[in-house]
Amino acid sequence: MITACRRGVEMLGIGSYAPERVMTNDELAARIDTSDEWIASRTGIRERRIASDAESAADLGTAAAARAIEMAGVDASELGLIVVATASPDYYFPATAALIGERLGAAGVPGYDLSAACTGFVFALAQAYGQVASGLTDTALVVGCEVFSRLLDWDDRSTCVLFGDGAGAVVLRGNGSKGGLLGFELGSNGQGGDLLKVAAAGHSRAPAVGPYVTMDGPQVYKFATTVSVESAARVLDAIGLTVDDVDVFVPHQANLRIIEHAARRLGIPAEKVVANVDRYGNTSAASIPICLDEAYRTGRIEPGDVVLMVGFGGGLSWGSCVMEWTIPLKERG
Ligand code: UT7
Repeated sequence: MITACRRGVEMLGIGSYAPERVMTNDELAARIDTSDEWIASRTGIRERRIASDAESAADLGTAAAARAIEMAGVDASELGLIVVATASPDYYFPATAALIGERLGAAGVPGYDLSAACTGFVFALAQAYGQVASGLTDTALVVGCEVFSRLLDWDDRSTCVLFGDGAGAVVLRGNGSKGGLLGFELGSNGQGGDLLKVAAAGHSRAPAVGPYVTMDGPQVYKFATTVSVESAARVLDAIGLTVDDVDVFVPHQANLRIIEHAARRLGIPAEKVVANVDRYGNTSAASIPICLDEAYRTGRIEPGDVVLMVGFGGGLSWGSCVMEWTIPLKERG
C-alpha cells in the first residue's frame, strides 16, 4: 500500500520513556557465551534498558504518552483515539490502549492495540492518520511500547542480546489544510512468518517453554537490508520527493549495520542518520518514536525538516513514512 497523504495531519507532541535499569553487554557476557566485542561489532548494541518486575508495557507507554500529551498542550480528554503498537502487551485483552487511556485521564476514548512487531509504530501512525484525515476524530495518540525482555529466552544468545524495553508516543491532530504526515508505504508477507516469531501463550502453537522470540537472524537481515531501501524509495517516489529532500533519516533500530547499509544504498549522508541502537538495543515498536523523540530533544530535528522513517520486522512486515516536522522549537524544553 502506497499513499500520498492528501489531508493535513500533524504532530503536536512527542515523548518517550525507558526503564532505569541498564544492562550492558559485559553483564550478558558474564552469564552466557557471548562478548561485548561480538555484540557491538555485529549489531552496534552496547547496552539496553530492562523493565523492572513491576513495570509493564502499559506503564512504559503511559509515561511516554504523558510526555507527548504535555508537549502537545492538549487535555487527555480531548483525544478521540488511542492506538498502541505492541508485541508485548500486558494482556490479550483488555487492550494496552485502554489501560493507558484510563491512566492518562482519557477513560471513554476508544483505544486498541495493533500487532505488527517492529513495524507496529509506522502502521499505527497510518491508522491514526486515516482516522483523523477522514474526520472520525480530530486528535489521536499513537504509542509504541514494548517489554520484550519478557519474551526472551535468556539462554539463547542469538536473540537475548538484541532486544530492550521502552516506549515512545506522539499526538496527532488534523490541521485543516496540508502538511505534517506526507506519505506511507506499508506491507506484510506471511510467507516469512516463521523467520521471526513468538507463539501465542496457551495456544495450540505454543511450545512447552516460553513462548519466546525465535529468529532466523541471517534471513531477517537479508530481508531488512532489502526492504528498508525499497520501501523508503517507494514512499519518496509516491510523494514526489527524492533522498536529497530528506533532512533526517530515522530507521528502525535493529542493527547498526542494517541502518548504515540502508543509508549508504539510499545515498543519505551519515550526518542525516539518527541511531541510538547502541544504548537501547532493538525496542521493536518503540524504537522509531524513541529515536524521533531523542533526535528532536537533542536538536537533530528542526521544524520544517523532512523526516523519513522506515520500519521492518516480524510478519514479515515493513512500513515507511515521510513527514514534515511540525513541533515548534519552543516545545523542546
Ligand atoms: O527488529 C526485527 C528485525 N530484526 C533484525 O533486523 C535482525 C536481523 N539480523 C541480524 O541483525 C543479524 O543476523 C544478527 C545480529 C542477529 C546475527 O548476526 P550474523 O552476522 O547474521 O550472525 P549469525 O547468526 O550468522 O551467526 C554467526 C555466528 C554463529 O556461530 P558459527 O555457527 O559461525 O560458529 C553463531 O552461533 O555467531 C554466533 N553467535 C554468537 N556469538 C557470540 C550468534 N549469536 C551470538 C552471540 N555471541 N550473541
